[in-house]
Amino acid sequence: MRRIKIFDTTLRDGEQSPGCTMNLQEKIEIAKALEKLKVDVIEAGFAISSPGDFESVKTIAETVRDCSVASLARLTEKDIDAAYEAVKGGADPRIHVFIATSPVHMEYKLKMSPEQVLEKTRAAVAYAKKYCSNIEFSAEDATRSDPEFLAKVVSAAIQSGATVINVPDTVGYTTPQEMQERIAYLIANVENSDRVEFSVHCHNDLGMAVANSLGGVRGGALQIECTVNGIGERAGNTSLEEVVMAMHTRPDLYPNMPRIETKRIYKTSKMVYHTIGQTPSPNKPIVGENAFAHESGIHQHGVLANKNTYEIMTPESVGIQEKQLVLGKHSGKHAFEARLSELGYDLSPDELAECFVRFKDLCDKKKMVNDRDVEALVHNKAVTSSKYTLDRFDVHAGNVTTATCTIRLKKDGEVLEEVSLGDGPIDAAYNAIDKIILPPAHTLDKYSINAVSEGKDTLGEVIVKLKSESGVVNGRGLSTDIIEASILAYLNAVDKLL
Ligand code: KIV
Ligand code: ZN
Repeated sequence: MRRIKIFDTTLRDGEQSPGCTMNLQEKIEIAKALEKLKVDVIEAGFAISSPGDFESVKTIAETVRDCSVASLARLTEKDIDAAYEAVKGGADPRIHVFIATSPVHMEYKLKMSPEQVLEKTRAAVAYAKKYCSNIEFSAEDATRSDPEFLAKVVSAAIQSGATVINVPDTVGYTTPQEMQERIAYLIANVENSDRVEFSVHCHNDLGMAVANSLGGVRGGALQIECTVNGIGERAGNTSLEEVVMAMHTRPDLYPNMPRIETKRIYKTSKMVYHTIGQTPSPNKPIVGENAFAHESGIHQHGVLANKNTYEIMTPESVGIQEKQLVLGKHSGKHAFEARLSELGYDLSPDELAECFVRFKDLCDKKKMVNDRDVEALVHNKAVTSSKYTLDRFDVHAGNVTTATCTIRLKKDGEVLEEVSLGDGPIDAAYNAIDKIILPPAHTLDKYSINAVSEGKDTLGEVIVKLKSESGVVNGRGLSTDIIEASILAYLNAVDKLL
């Protein structure tokens, strides 16, 4: 029995959705986490789409060793050249080519006849095959395509050398039964279908992406395409954590389980949420705050008597530590390191030392430091690398006064100070920073603030996204003082703009 492979497209289909843009460093960090999670394929981007995408696919391909790295490409020589150029340094490079096969896409988007689509598939897959052996072909909008025509296109792709055939439900239209039948139909009706792996790629417009992917597996698909936290176009893609844990929880139905290290799921999910500045809704399966919480008396009673009454999987199986531990200012480096390792973080000695300094700082401001605080400290390690460091700030604001802020920054030992007015203390602080740094023109695309844990002394985590001509950058700031967190987040983002 062949095990199911997980093809992760967080960095391509996920990243291309609004509000999920990431920079190179963030993508590399996520790719490393995906490698540790043991996904089989990382789709790192769409190499031709921008120099930034090309660079990140290339860097990820050269960094990651334990999984295949893919780049998306349309069926043109230019796209395929760029895709190969970007992935060729990888351990197992894959070119992922696609073309739409549904009547509406062919007529209105491609303005091509079915024969032209067929011919282009033949020629372009053969062209890609000259570069590398691992070729995935996707028939975009496959679930709204005529099954007989789809089978012809898939046959042509296999004849020309495709090794993986992906059946995308591009608009989230299909149902689990239909997906199962479509995959089974293709396997039964396409010549040499046993020589390739079939794959499913589902969007979540009707909330069925996970169920449809599992339907595809029942039909014979051996690869599931998904994203961490289900991020992606519109309502998103199949969520990696949900589809993996569904198979894990029901080995009776899905015995050919993927190789995913499920204990890394929670941490990877957190990392992606932190990076894109989102938080899961509390009832998000697997990773939401309430996913394992039992509030009602009847449920609590049942769980205390026997966990199986209301718990189909354990929080530990996805890497959530049930036992929360509290650290404080008397906790030493060993205790801190031990807790980090229990939470599943393996930091390098330098990262650990740097994180411990921030932990001690936090202990001066907050009596009890819990697991959520520790996680936030780890995920915010990038913030300290700012070219400009915050020396001090002074804010005056009220409901009848115009807010003013004085900011003092340090850069290479030089002290730079400015004062500015603003529409509230944060606007005033950001204006003062702009006066000092003179960053390129930009707009504030997003500002969000979250309490990391409970209590009035909790850490506030601020995420800002700045949009400039060269793209979107985000910045994060963490402090028990939300104005300080806002300033740090802005500095972190401006740093990237520069
Ligand atoms: O949704 C889709 O059809 C895609 C393809 C490019 C695979 O993302
Ligand atoms: Zn997609």
